[in-house]
Amino acid sequence: MIVIRWPAEAIWQAVEPLLAGFTVEVLPEIDSSNSELMRRARVGRTEPVLLVAERQTAGRGRLGRGWQSAAGDSLTFSLGLPLAAADWAGLSLAVGVSCAESLHPRIRLKWPNDLWLDDRKLAGILIETASSGAGPARYAVIGIGLNVAPRPAEGLSTPPAALRELDPGADAGSALLRIAEPLVRTLQAFEHYGFAPFQGRFQARDALRDRPVALSDGTTGTAHGVTDAGSLLVHTAAGMQAISSSEVSVRPATP
Ligand code: BTN
Repeated sequence: MIVIRWPAEAIWQAVEPLLAGFTVEVLPEIDSSNSELMRRARVGRTEPVLLVAERQTAGRGRLGRGWQSAAGDSLTFSLGLPLAAADWAGLSLAVGVSCAESLHPRIRLKWPNDLWLDDRKLAGILIETASSGAGPARYAVIGIGLNVAPRPAEGLSTPPAALRELDPGADAGSALLRIAEPLVRTLQAFEHYGFAPFQGRFQARDALRDRPVALSDGTTGTAHGVTDAGSLLVHTAAGMQAISSSEVSVRPATP
């Protein structure tokens, strides 16, 4: 059995002053930390919580994909909290900016919500929301999966990146401690000001900027950064297009 030491108390002490009623919960096994918080929200449990899953049996990624992770070698958690954002556009980008800045200067961001290291996926973000009852707020579930130790390619064309390539001493607990409090501050800033204040910080780490890209809808072009609403600008044969749909995936293409 793998015993992981989680800095739950230190995270709680850093976050609770920002988020009244905040708790940290560590589960040895669950299907998916996002699914669990969404289930709770549907029965009215919309309190702020950081739910760490040591092992996920049915981890979920974007676009209906799965998310593979191994206990001890990955960090998988979801942060659930009520958010009253006037405009939700760009939230996953802001979350990516926050996580990348917390972890390492070399980490780059691949629109809309991947952390990359040397063009390989280091982490993914899955954001879901549920009704939080009366009032303008929705319950936001921010799920993050981060590869800490290298893992096999498992059918992917390139093996995923791992945090230990940047910091050989990294572990899931210390990574979570670095991510958690800045992430809550990011969400609170996003709630008030939207994506615009994060635009420049995203551009500074944009992995696709000025590169040829192919979209899953067949469009090809050159990526030119993001708008202040978080849309990806792609210069195509039909002119500049702002891609906002989270249903579209994008990858670098050979020119
Ligand atoms: C993606 O890259 O497609 C998003 C991956 C998100 C994975 C995390 S792991 C913690 C949380 N629980 C899940 O089931 N998914 C997210």
